[in-house]
Amino acid sequence: MKLAIIGSGKIVQEFLPLIKDLPDIQVKAILGTKRSQERTEKIQAQYGIEASYTDIDECLQSAAFTTVYIAVPNHLHYAFAKKALEAGKDVICEKPFTLKHAELLDLERLAAEKNLVLIEAITNQYLINYQKIKKASENIGKLKIIECNYSQYSSRYEAFKAGTILPAFDPKKGGGALMDINIYNIHLVVGLLGKPRHVRYFANIERNIDTSGVLILDYGEIKVVCIGAKDSEAPIRSTIQGTEGSVVINGPTNTLDSYSIIFDDVENFDHKDHPHRMYDEFKRFSQVINDRDMDFVKKQLEHSKIVMEIVETALADAGIILG
Ligand SMILES: NC(=O)c1ccc[n+]([C@@H]2O[C@H](COP(=O)([O-])OP(=O)(O)OC[C@H]3O[C@@H](n4cnc5c(N)ncnc54)[C@H](OP(=O)(O)O)[C@@H]3O)[C@@H](O)[C@H]2O)c1
Repeated sequence: MKLAIIGSGKIVQEFLPLIKDLPDIQVKAILGTKRSQERTEKIQAQYGIEASYTDIDECLQSAAFTTVYIAVPNHLHYAFAKKALEAGKDVICEKPFTLKHAELLDLERLAAEKNLVLIEAITNQYLINYQKIKKASENIGKLKIIECNYSQYSSRYEAFKAGTILPAFDPKKGGGALMDINIYNIHLVVGLLGKPRHVRYFANIERNIDTSGVLILDYGEIKVVCIGAKDSEAPIRSTIQGTEGSVVINGPTNTLDSYSIIFDDVENFDHKDHPHRMYDEFKRFSQVINDRDMDFVKKQLEHSKIVMEIVETALADAGIILG
């Protein structure tokens, strides 16, 4: 896969050291802003990337790559993905896919017209632990309750309170606890249960953005609580409760560090083939793009669309306007 990385911020700097372990991926270009051009060029030199850009339109004219990985602030995902598809590139897009469900539908239509890959980079769906947790949750009797708590006090919250609004807390840039952190819980639950019947979101709102909140998903005979907080902390854990036993996921729902299956006894498990949380997803993306596995792409898009529908309903419920 010949790749251009769109963005040179936190997640890109975490991702790039992994590239040496993914020999099927060649990074051909990187894009940053003019204001951080020096940093982008430093990254370019460090990883031996052929080209760096500060202009998305110029970047997309290059024939050196056929896929883009979009890792810019949330409010730019839709516009950048659209430009990339129009330029004939396959698109891997960071979470949350878009700010609005309709935007994702628009991208889906465009990708289908051009027979291009459009897929969301969402770690948990690709981790081996996730597949194992899914299987385990089918063997604990009738499912009743799922509770996911991803609460992590954000270093950016201090700046936010002092009046410096970084993208992860900026309503204009699609920030907030739901979009930034609780979204991993939503992906986990949608992967297990699909589309809920009812969605409610009760949020703590400061400066028009949710700094924490509780999302309730009603699946009829199964009730789900997803907690996401950037303004407070608690043990990060998720539990899946069935009539005969439970599954406890230790750690955040984007890494699924390990899990326990509890009946009368507790059994602990951890299945990983790489310590980096992004390894499995990018290995799979590279295969999918190489094989033009459009059935898989379609399946993942159906999943992402349900997540976007939940997000849209939740934000409206809490009166949060993004973008
Ligand atoms: N951080 C994580 O752990 C993490 C994990 C998973 C997913 N993600 C997702 O990845 C995306 C990026 O997050 P991040 O934490 O890496 O953000 P970040 O550190 O703020 O980096 C964002 C990058 O986008 C660039 N950018 C901002 N505005 C731009 C524009 N108008 N045109 C072109 N480039 C622009 C930034 O340049 P400047 O630095 O010059 O502003 C920077 O290179 C988000 O969608 C986030 O949800 C992040």
